[in-house]
Amino acid sequence: MPHPVKPWPYPRWIAHRGAGQLAPENTLAAFRVGASHGYRMFECDVKLSLDGVPFLLHDDTLVRTSNAQEQLGAGLSTVGGDHPWATLSQLDAGSWHSRAFAGEPLASLAAVARFCRANAYFVNLEIKPTPGLERQTGQVVAEHAARLWADAGVPPLLSSFDVPALEAAQGAQPQLPRALLLDALWSGWLEAARSLDCVAIVCDQLLWDPSTVAQARGAAMRTLSYTVNEPAQAQRLIDLGIDGLITDRIDCFAPARQPPAN
Ligand code: G3P
Ligand code: MG
Repeated sequence: MPHPVKPWPYPRWIAHRGAGQLAPENTLAAFRVGASHGYRMFECDVKLSLDGVPFLLHDDTLVRTSNAQEQLGAGLSTVGGDHPWATLSQLDAGSWHSRAFAGEPLASLAAVARFCRANAYFVNLEIKPTPGLERQTGQVVAEHAARLWADAGVPPLLSSFDVPALEAAQGAQPQLPRALLLDALWSGWLEAARSLDCVAIVCDQLLWDPSTVAQARGAAMRTLSYTVNEPAQAQRLIDLGIDGLITDRIDCFAPARQPPAN
Protein backbone atom coordinates (compact mmCIF):
# COMPACT_ATOMS: atom_id res chain seq x y z
CA MET A 1 0.00 0.00 0.00
CA PRO A 2 1.67 3.29 -1.07
CA HIS A 3 2.08 6.00 1.57
CA PRO A 4 0.06 9.19 0.96
CA VAL A 5 2.24 12.09 -0.18
CA LYS A 6 2.34 15.05 2.15
CA PRO A 7 1.05 18.48 1.10
CA TRP A 8 3.60 20.24 -1.09
CA PRO A 9 4.01 23.95 -0.44
CA TYR A 10 6.47 24.69 -3.25
CA PRO A 11 5.61 26.05 -6.71
CA ARG A 12 6.11 23.88 -9.77
CA TRP A 13 8.61 26.16 -11.54
CA ILE A 14 12.02 26.74 -9.97
CA ALA A 15 14.70 29.07 -11.36
CA HIS A 16 18.06 27.28 -11.61
CA ARG A 17 20.96 29.04 -9.86
CA GLY A 18 18.70 32.08 -9.41
CA ALA A 19 18.04 33.13 -12.99
CA GLY A 20 19.46 30.42 -15.21
CA GLN A 21 21.84 32.19 -17.55
CA LEU A 22 20.36 35.71 -17.73
CA ALA A 23 22.37 36.93 -14.74
CA PRO A 24 25.49 35.74 -12.90
CA GLU A 25 24.48 32.42 -11.36
CA ASN A 26 24.08 32.07 -7.61
CA THR A 27 24.08 35.82 -6.90
CA LEU A 28 21.28 37.93 -5.46
CA ALA A 29 21.20 39.77 -8.78
CA ALA A 30 20.19 36.45 -10.35
CA PHE A 31 17.42 35.97 -7.80
CA ARG A 32 16.14 39.45 -8.62
CA VAL A 33 16.13 38.76 -12.35
CA GLY A 34 14.38 35.44 -11.74
CA ALA A 35 11.78 37.19 -9.61
CA SER A 36 11.25 39.83 -12.31
CA HIS A 37 10.29 36.97 -14.64
CA GLY A 38 7.65 35.78 -12.20
CA TYR A 39 9.63 33.06 -10.43
CA ARG A 40 8.88 32.52 -6.75
CA MET A 41 11.28 29.66 -6.07
CA PHE A 42 15.01 29.50 -6.64
CA GLU A 43 17.55 26.69 -6.64
CA CYS A 44 21.08 27.61 -5.58
CA ASP A 45 24.33 25.83 -4.65
CA VAL A 46 25.68 26.25 -1.12
CA LYS A 47 29.13 25.47 0.28
CA LEU A 48 31.30 26.67 3.18
CA SER A 49 34.01 29.29 3.36
CA LEU A 50 37.20 28.43 5.25
CA ASP A 51 35.69 29.93 8.39
CA GLY A 52 32.41 28.05 8.02
CA VAL A 53 30.17 30.71 6.44
CA PRO A 54 27.66 29.18 3.99
CA PHE A 55 27.75 30.97 0.63
CA LEU A 56 26.65 30.34 -2.95
CA LEU A 57 29.04 28.81 -5.47
CA HIS A 58 28.51 25.98 -7.94
CA ASP A 59 32.05 24.91 -8.81
CA ASP A 60 34.74 23.83 -6.37
CA THR A 61 36.83 26.78 -7.57
CA LEU A 62 36.08 30.47 -8.00
CA VAL A 63 37.70 30.68 -11.43
CA ARG A 64 34.68 30.48 -13.74
CA THR A 65 32.30 32.74 -11.83
CA SER A 66 34.44 35.43 -10.18
CA ASN A 67 37.55 37.57 -10.58
CA ALA A 68 39.41 35.44 -7.98
CA GLN A 69 42.35 34.67 -10.24
CA GLU A 70 43.29 38.32 -10.72
CA GLN A 71 42.18 39.44 -7.27
CA LEU A 72 43.84 36.76 -5.14
CA GLY A 73 47.18 36.80 -6.93
CA ALA A 74 49.39 34.09 -8.37
CA GLY A 75 50.11 31.07 -6.26
CA LEU A 76 47.04 31.31 -4.06
CA SER A 77 44.38 28.61 -4.13
CA THR A 78 41.30 29.31 -6.22
CA VAL A 79 39.22 26.77 -4.30
CA GLY A 80 36.28 28.63 -2.78
CA GLY A 81 36.43 26.73 0.49
CA ASP A 82 40.09 27.69 1.01
CA HIS A 83 39.25 31.34 1.76
CA PRO A 84 37.52 33.07 4.66
CA TRP A 85 34.30 34.93 4.00
CA ALA A 86 36.05 38.27 4.57
CA THR A 87 38.10 37.55 1.43
CA LEU A 88 35.31 35.94 -0.59
CA SER A 89 32.90 38.79 0.08
CA GLN A 90 35.30 41.25 -1.65
CA LEU A 91 35.32 39.36 -4.98
CA ASP A 92 33.45 40.43 -8.10
CA ALA A 93 31.07 37.62 -9.06
CA GLY A 94 29.30 39.56 -11.78
CA SER A 95 31.82 40.88 -14.33
CA TRP A 96 32.48 37.42 -15.78
CA HIS A 97 28.85 37.40 -16.93
CA SER A 98 28.47 40.93 -18.35
CA ARG A 99 29.29 44.55 -17.55
CA ALA A 100 25.74 45.14 -16.35
CA PHE A 101 26.52 43.01 -13.31
CA ALA A 102 30.05 44.27 -12.59
CA GLY A 103 30.78 44.36 -8.89
CA GLU A 104 28.03 41.94 -7.92
CA PRO A 105 29.30 40.10 -4.82
CA LEU A 106 29.11 36.43 -3.97
CA ALA A 107 25.96 35.80 -1.95
CA SER A 108 26.03 34.55 1.60
CA LEU A 109 23.23 32.22 2.68
CA ALA A 110 22.23 34.88 5.20
CA ALA A 111 21.69 37.40 2.38
CA VAL A 112 19.63 34.85 0.44
CA ALA A 113 17.48 34.27 3.51
CA ARG A 114 16.90 38.00 3.99
CA PHE A 115 15.85 38.43 0.36
CA CYS A 116 13.65 35.34 0.17
CA ARG A 117 11.97 35.89 3.51
CA ALA A 118 11.22 39.56 2.81
CA ASN A 119 9.52 38.59 -0.45
CA ALA A 120 7.95 35.28 0.65
CA TYR A 121 9.97 33.42 -1.97
CA PHE A 122 10.77 29.71 -1.69
CA VAL A 123 14.22 28.24 -1.97
CA ASN A 124 15.91 24.94 -2.75
CA LEU A 125 19.37 24.88 -1.17
CA GLU A 126 21.54 22.37 -2.96
CA ILE A 127 24.31 21.34 -0.56
CA LYS A 128 27.39 21.35 -2.80
CA PRO A 129 30.33 20.50 -0.53
CA THR A 130 33.94 21.24 -1.23
CA PRO A 131 35.40 17.72 -1.63
CA GLY A 132 36.34 16.31 1.76
CA LEU A 133 33.89 18.54 3.65
CA GLU A 134 30.70 16.62 2.87
CA ARG A 135 29.41 15.96 6.38
CA GLN A 136 30.54 19.29 7.79
CA THR A 137 28.81 21.14 4.95
CA GLY A 138 25.56 19.22 5.36
CA GLN A 139 25.52 19.87 9.09
CA VAL A 140 26.45 23.56 8.98
CA VAL A 141 24.15 24.42 6.08
CA ALA A 142 21.24 22.72 7.87
CA GLU A 143 22.00 24.55 11.12
CA HIS A 144 22.20 27.93 9.39
CA ALA A 145 19.08 27.23 7.31
CA ALA A 146 17.10 26.31 10.42
CA ARG A 147 18.17 29.51 12.16
CA LEU A 148 17.80 31.82 9.15
CA TRP A 149 14.36 30.47 8.26
CA ALA A 150 13.16 30.04 11.86
CA ASP A 151 9.42 30.74 12.02
CA ALA A 152 9.22 31.09 8.23
CA GLY A 153 5.99 29.72 6.83
CA VAL A 154 7.78 27.35 4.48
CA PRO A 155 11.32 26.09 5.16
CA PRO A 156 14.02 25.73 2.51
CA LEU A 157 14.16 22.41 0.71
CA LEU A 158 17.65 20.93 1.24
CA SER A 159 18.97 18.73 -1.55
CA SER A 160 22.24 17.07 -2.47
CA PHE A 161 23.81 14.46 -4.71
CA ASP A 162 25.93 13.60 -1.71
CA VAL A 163 24.40 11.08 0.71
CA PRO A 164 26.78 11.78 3.64
CA ALA A 165 25.98 15.50 3.34
CA LEU A 166 22.26 14.77 3.51
CA GLU A 167 22.80 12.37 6.43
CA ALA A 168 24.59 15.12 8.32
CA ALA A 169 21.79 17.58 7.52
CA GLN A 170 19.26 15.02 8.75
CA GLY A 171 21.21 14.49 11.95
CA ALA A 172 21.56 18.22 12.62
CA GLN A 173 18.07 19.45 11.72
CA PRO A 174 15.79 16.48 11.00
CA GLN A 175 12.70 18.69 10.62
CA LEU A 176 14.04 20.43 7.49
CA PRO A 177 12.74 18.82 4.29
CA ARG A 178 15.35 16.90 2.27
CA ALA A 179 15.58 15.71 -1.32
CA LEU A 180 18.01 13.27 -2.91
CA LEU A 181 19.51 14.49 -6.19
CA LEU A 182 20.19 11.85 -8.83
CA ASP A 183 22.15 12.09 -12.05
CA ALA A 184 21.92 8.30 -12.43
CA LEU A 185 19.72 5.59 -10.92
CA TRP A 186 22.45 4.02 -8.84
CA SER A 187 21.69 0.78 -7.04
CA GLY A 188 19.75 1.42 -3.85
CA TRP A 189 18.69 5.02 -4.63
CA LEU A 190 15.16 4.58 -3.33
CA GLU A 191 16.28 2.89 -0.13
CA ALA A 192 18.83 5.64 0.44
CA ALA A 193 16.14 8.30 -0.02
CA ARG A 194 13.87 6.41 2.39
CA SER A 195 16.51 6.15 5.06
CA LEU A 196 17.25 9.87 4.66
CA ASP A 197 13.50 10.43 5.16
CA CYS A 198 13.45 12.49 1.96
CA VAL A 199 10.30 14.27 0.88
CA ALA A 200 11.40 14.35 -2.77
CA ILE A 201 13.67 12.94 -5.45
CA VAL A 202 15.24 15.47 -7.84
CA CYS A 203 16.30 13.67 -11.02
CA ASP A 204 18.05 14.46 -14.22
CA GLN A 205 14.96 14.80 -16.37
CA LEU A 206 15.84 11.80 -18.58
CA LEU A 207 15.51 9.47 -15.56
CA TRP A 208 11.82 10.12 -15.04
CA ASP A 209 9.47 7.65 -16.69
CA PRO A 210 6.24 6.00 -15.48
CA SER A 211 8.24 3.37 -13.56
CA THR A 212 10.56 5.73 -11.67
CA VAL A 213 7.70 8.15 -10.96
CA ALA A 214 5.65 5.24 -9.53
CA GLN A 215 8.58 4.14 -7.36
CA ALA A 216 9.02 7.62 -5.90
CA ARG A 217 5.31 8.12 -5.38
CA GLY A 218 5.02 4.67 -3.83
CA ALA A 219 7.50 5.87 -1.23
CA ALA A 220 5.42 9.04 -0.66
CA MET A 221 8.02 11.26 -2.28
CA ARG A 222 7.54 14.17 -4.61
CA THR A 223 9.20 14.23 -8.00
CA LEU A 224 11.36 17.11 -9.26
CA SER A 225 13.54 17.44 -12.31
CA TYR A 226 16.56 19.41 -13.51
CA THR A 227 17.50 21.13 -15.81
CA VAL A 228 14.41 21.50 -17.98
CA ASN A 229 15.11 23.95 -20.78
CA GLU A 230 13.01 22.77 -23.75
CA PRO A 231 9.20 23.07 -24.03
CA ALA A 232 8.85 19.46 -25.25
CA GLN A 233 10.86 18.23 -22.26
CA ALA A 234 8.69 20.27 -19.90
CA GLN A 235 5.49 18.94 -21.43
CA ARG A 236 6.66 15.33 -21.11
CA LEU A 237 7.42 15.87 -17.43
CA ILE A 238 4.16 17.70 -16.76
CA ASP A 239 2.30 14.83 -18.45
CA LEU A 240 4.12 12.45 -16.08
CA GLY A 241 2.88 14.56 -13.15
CA ILE A 242 6.30 15.80 -12.08
CA ASP A 243 5.92 18.19 -9.14
CA GLY A 244 8.84 20.54 -9.74
CA LEU A 245 10.75 21.72 -12.80
CA ILE A 246 14.12 23.42 -12.35
CA THR A 247 14.97 25.55 -15.37
CA ASP A 248 17.54 27.93 -16.81
CA ARG A 249 14.98 29.22 -19.33
CA ILE A 250 13.19 31.73 -17.15
CA ASP A 251 12.65 33.72 -20.33
CA CYS A 252 10.85 30.76 -21.94
CA PHE A 253 8.64 29.34 -19.19
CA ALA A 254 6.20 31.62 -17.39
CA PRO A 255 5.44 30.21 -13.94
CA ALA A 256 2.50 32.54 -13.33
CA ARG A 257 0.60 30.75 -16.07
CA GLN A 258 1.29 27.29 -14.67
CA PRO A 259 -0.99 25.76 -12.05
CA PRO A 260 0.86 24.90 -8.82
CA ALA A 261 1.44 21.26 -7.94
CA ASN A 262 -1.00 19.99 -5.27
O1 G3P B 1 19.76 21.03 -8.05
C1 G3P B 1 19.60 20.70 -9.38
C2 G3P B 1 20.80 21.05 -10.21
O2 G3P B 1 21.28 22.31 -9.84
C3 G3P B 1 21.89 20.04 -10.05
O3 G3P B 1 22.95 20.24 -10.93
O4 G3P B 1 25.26 20.92 -11.40
O5 G3P B 1 23.41 22.52 -11.79
O6 G3P B 1 24.09 21.96 -9.48
P1 G3P B 1 23.97 21.47 -10.89
MG1 MG C 1 22.58 23.06 -8.34
